[in-house]
Amino acid sequence: MIHPDHSIRKELADQRPRTPVGLLSRAEKDRIIERGVHGLYRWYLARSQSKRNWNPDTFVRWPDMRKDHSPELMKIIEGFYAIEQYAPDYTAVTLRMNRKNYGRAQFQLRWGSEEEKHSDLWLNALLFSGQRSPEWVHEYKKSLREREWDTPWTDVIHGTFYVVFQERATQLNYLNTAIIAAGKSTNPAHANDADPVLLEAAKTIAVDEAAHYSFFLEIGRLLMYYYPAESIEAIWDIITHFSMPAIDLIPNSEHIWKQFNDSDVFTPRQFMGDVVATALSHLGWESRKALARGIKNNRLVPDEDGNLYSSAIFDEFGYDSIEKAVRKLHDKINDYERLMGLYAIDPTVFVPSGMPVREDVEEVENTSTEN
Ligand SMILES: [Fe+2]
Ligand SMILES: [Fe+2]
Repeated sequence: MIHPDHSIRKELADQRPRTPVGLLSRAEKDRIIERGVHGLYRWYLARSQSKRNWNPDTFVRWPDMRKDHSPELMKIIEGFYAIEQYAPDYTAVTLRMNRKNYGRAQFQLRWGSEEEKHSDLWLNALLFSGQRSPEWVHEYKKSLREREWDTPWTDVIHGTFYVVFQERATQLNYLNTAIIAAGKSTNPAHANDADPVLLEAAKTIAVDEAAHYSFFLEIGRLLMYYYPAESIEAIWDIITHFSMPAIDLIPNSEHIWKQFNDSDVFTPRQFMGDVVATALSHLGWESRKALARGIKNNRLVPDEDGNLYSSAIFDEFGYDSIEKAVRKLHDKINDYERLMGLYAIDPTVFVPSGMPVREDVEEVENTSTEN
């Protein structure tokens, strides 16, 4: 029997792929995710242009807006304007964070162009409300811009999951405002706040936020599928430290925050239910408790490529449902690529992550290494 010397055996071992058969390297996963995001961006752009191409000055008749809204509703509008008017900061920061990912960077530009319209919409609402002088509005605008927003999250995975929850929260804010503007709020403070102009504004902007949520959710699912361990950790960090963007930068934020709560526009209870629970279920997690169990699982240690070898974590959540969603996303992208002809040249291809890895696969690998 031939026994190769130690240096040859070591060289052969070094040349062996680092990842078990069927699993992907970090570079491969990043390339696959980037392709998926770019494909989704193409689809998104077409939808954005055909379905949501509204102009914040002309999509409603602003002079018809009521001039006698409650002070409570005016405070809420003030808050919406304050948050949305940091759009240039949000765009600059997220663009810088994602600049190497072509499709994501393209999307962040498009997203920024939609968010800036939201700022203009609320600016118009303030100006046409009859309850804030143009001078006051200009001064408020100036004071808000004195400070600059920066992200508390500096990596792409945290940054992505933050916006999944934030977009869902914003959508909810506007849907709740639509209830007030439809005259359907049960809060006595809003008994006289029905207004067709404001209703149309809140509904239109809520549709945009829903589109943003869906886009970021799809990226979140790609991350959850290819980088489950890092995604789970990031989601946990986000939901335990969540706040709406820029709320700490706004001069009168305490009053605004309180008004959101008092008017049922955004409450901690809504955040845990309509935001966290809903987004978690869309990400394959039945509850926050299941996520906590996933976090505590002591075998939740990925390799350097972000792959998990243990199957234990996969019992805690619907990894299969995430794979299904990622496949569906690719079907949607491919349909669009067929429509515009790209499919024949450069289709976006679904690649299985190879996870969850069965215990016996790992054993076979180990055995062969010993031989
Ligand atoms: Fe927005
Ligand atoms: Fe948004």
